Amino acid sequence: MTRKIWVFDTTLRDGEQVPGAKLNLYEKLEVAQQLKKLKVDIIEAGFPASSAGDFNAVKEIAMKVGNTEDTIITALARAVKADIDAVYNSVKYAEKPLIHIVLGTSDIHVEKKFGKSKTQILDIGVDAVKYAKTFLPDVQYSTEDASRSDFEYLWATIKAVVKAGATIINVPDTVGYAEPEEFGELIFKLNDRLKNVNDKVLLSVHCHNDLGMATANTLAAIKNGADKVECTINGIGERAGNAALEEVVMAINTRSSVYKACTNINTKEIMNTSRLVSSFMGLDVQVNKAITGDNAFAHSSGIHQDGLLKSRDAYEIISPIEVGLDDMELVLTARSGRHAVKNALEKLGFNQLTDTQFEGIFEDFLELADAKKEVYNHDLYVIVENYYAKHD
Ligand code: KIV
Ligand code: ZN
Repeated sequence: MTRKIWVFDTTLRDGEQVPGAKLNLYEKLEVAQQLKKLKVDIIEAGFPASSAGDFNAVKEIAMKVGNTEDTIITALARAVKADIDAVYNSVKYAEKPLIHIVLGTSDIHVEKKFGKSKTQILDIGVDAVKYAKTFLPDVQYSTEDASRSDFEYLWATIKAVVKAGATIINVPDTVGYAEPEEFGELIFKLNDRLKNVNDKVLLSVHCHNDLGMATANTLAAIKNGADKVECTINGIGERAGNAALEEVVMAINTRSSVYKACTNINTKEIMNTSRLVSSFMGLDVQVNKAITGDNAFAHSSGIHQDGLLKSRDAYEIISPIEVGLDDMELVLTARSGRHAVKNALEKLGFNQLTDTQFEGIFEDFLELADAKKEVYNHDLYVIVENYYAKHD
C-alpha cells in the first residue's frame, strides 16, 4: 500500500534563520508562491512574534498564497500567549491556517534552558495547545529536542497535548544528534502508541543535519510510520541545515518500493525552486549537492559518457527531466521584448510581479542587455534581486 507523506516546508522559517539569508517581503511572497507551485502541503511562513516585518510577511503570505485550500499556511509560536496571538492574527487570513507551537522535552531544555520541572513544562505545553484551540481547530505541537528526551516523558507530553487537542505531533531531531536506526525506532514506538490513542493525529519529523544524517533520519522515520516530513529547499536551515526537500522527495520517488510512499510534490518545479531560494538568499548550492547541485546530472569521465550514450540508465538513476531540467534556456537580448522577458521570468518562478514591478525590471533588463548583449537565466535572478533590494 502506498501512503501519502505530507510535505511541510520551513524554508521561510528555519531556512531564513541562516545568517545573512534574510528576505524582504517581495522575495518571501515569491518563494511562497513558488512553494505552492511545487505543491508542498504546508508552508511555514515565519515566526511572527519575532518582528513586525515577519508578522506582516506571514499575513501577506496567508492572504495571497493561502487563498486556496490546497496549501496550509502556518507560523511558529513558543508556548506563550503573545506568540500564539501573533501566529493566529497573521495566519488567520489563509483558507487553511495552522498554529505551530514549540516547547522542549529534553532534560537539557526543561532544566537548563527553562529552569523548570518536567511537570511545569508539560502543563505549559497543554495550556498553550488549549489556548491555540480557542482560535483554530488545527494545532501542531513540536517537542523540541525530542531525540535527546527521556522516552516516557516525551510520550507523556505527546499524550497530554493530543488530549488537549493537538492535531499534528512533530518530533524534531533539533541538534542533528540522532542516527537513522535509532531515530526510526523512536518513530516506530511513538507511532504505535499514538495511533492507539488517536489515529487521526499526524506524526511528523523535523531533522537537522549536524552529522550529515538529516535526509537519512527523515527517510528512516518514513519507513517507521511518520506521516509528515519537515524540510527546506537546498537543505538550508539553522547551523548545518535541515533535511533537504528535494533529497527526501526524490528518494521516495526513486525508491518507492522501499518506502511504500508518495508525496504531492510536483518534482518538475524542484530546480526552479532551488535556484529561486539560492538566488534570493545569496546561498550558493554546493556543486555536488544531491539533486540540485550543478554537477548532480553532469557526467564527465569518458567511461561514464560512453556508458550513458549506450544506455542512460548505466549511470543515471533519475532523469533530469523529472526535476525540471528539461527546459531549453532561451538567451534573451535587447530585442526580445516584454512578452519573452515576462515568460522567462515566470518560468523561473517570478509569478507575483505587479505591472509596475515588471516595468522596472524590464528597464533594468534592457540596460543589461545593451551592455552584455546576451542575458541568461542567472542574470535574470540578479536583475530581480537587485530590483527588490532597491525597492524594499
Ligand atoms: O529544530 C527544531 O526543533 C525546530 C522546531 C521549531 C520544530 O526548528
Ligand atoms: Zn529546526
